[in-house]
Amino acid sequence: MSKFARIIGTGSYLPPKIVTNHDLEKILDTSDEWIVARTGIKERRRVTDETTCDLATIASNNALEAAGINASELDLIILATTTPDKIFPATATILQNAIGASCPAFDLQSVCSGFIYALTTAEQFIKTGAANKVLVVGSETLSRIVDWKDRSTAILFGDGAGAVVLSGDEETGILHSKLFSDGSYLSSLQVSNNYINETGYIEMAGNEVFKIAVNRLSSLAEETLKECNMSTDELDWMVPHQANIRIISAVAKRIKTPMEKVVVTLNKHGNTSAASIPLALDVAVRDGRIKKGDNLLFEGIGGGFSWGSALVQF
Ligand code: UT7
Repeated sequence: MSKFARIIGTGSYLPPKIVTNHDLEKILDTSDEWIVARTGIKERRRVTDETTCDLATIASNNALEAAGINASELDLIILATTTPDKIFPATATILQNAIGASCPAFDLQSVCSGFIYALTTAEQFIKTGAANKVLVVGSETLSRIVDWKDRSTAILFGDGAGAVVLSGDEETGILHSKLFSDGSYLSSLQVSNNYINETGYIEMAGNEVFKIAVNRLSSLAEETLKECNMSTDELDWMVPHQANIRIISAVAKRIKTPMEKVVVTLNKHGNTSAASIPLALDVAVRDGRIKKGDNLLFEGIGGGFSWGSALVQF
């Protein structure tokens, strides 16, 4: 049993193919100007023939290397994804085999809040002593479920993967987390197929989702800091889900955090759903912005709606 679950390594991976706003101008009635002004996105990545597991494998190996542990030492793998490779088996088991682990592995589906749900689940295993070393991954190939004829969604999403290795720790780690769901918003954001024999695409009432996201996430960020007895000054970095720069800045403003203390990767990654937080985290760890001991706030909302936050001492 450990007091805390601590992140001991991060990793990420983006497929090499870049899709710029100018590329989208050629296939949709849109403009670089509109996309940048309304979302903050300039480009995103798109898989060619890589799978969700392929992206997850490279991100996971990078995280294991950063943590200095071998895959054989893992006690559990949780993969958050909305775009699994198959209906079954779980993509997490395909990942387990690809990285050479032998521990239990399962997928977790909570769309854009998937990483926070997976992190919180892993924390419970570590705190009860059921596991000590856990790999938590967010990996998505959303381009497979985007309707490339729908300009209101096609411009938003990107493919990528991010991963963290968690380990039991007596000093520090995840300090606090909160999870919420409200299933009454089904029609606001969904893939409306019957899963088995139809290909469905993301359908979103963007403006409605936008207002709810700002509302819920602003209150949640404020409550999280309050419940941790942490002042804004003690918060080193906000590492939010990357959906829209206007949502991110509204939440930062509400908790009086300057944008200099917010990790933003949206401009280059677009919205990568469950992968966006671990991807942003890994970028800021590797470029030296996030350092050991820093206090980090993760927050995000997505389909369901499901939303949540985690306050983490790195
Ligand atoms: O990660 C999961 C959670 N998802 C989110 O958090 C996404 C939340 N929503 C958003 O980020 C924003 O609502 C969008 C970026 C999707 C849309 O921005 P908006 O400012 O809410 O625009 P809107 O939907 O109110 O549309 C305004 C106008 C409409 O035209 P009319 O009816 O005013 O003539 C749209 O047809 O913008 C039009 N429009 C576009 N124009 C150019 C919508 N998409 C585009 C586009 N290019 N790509």
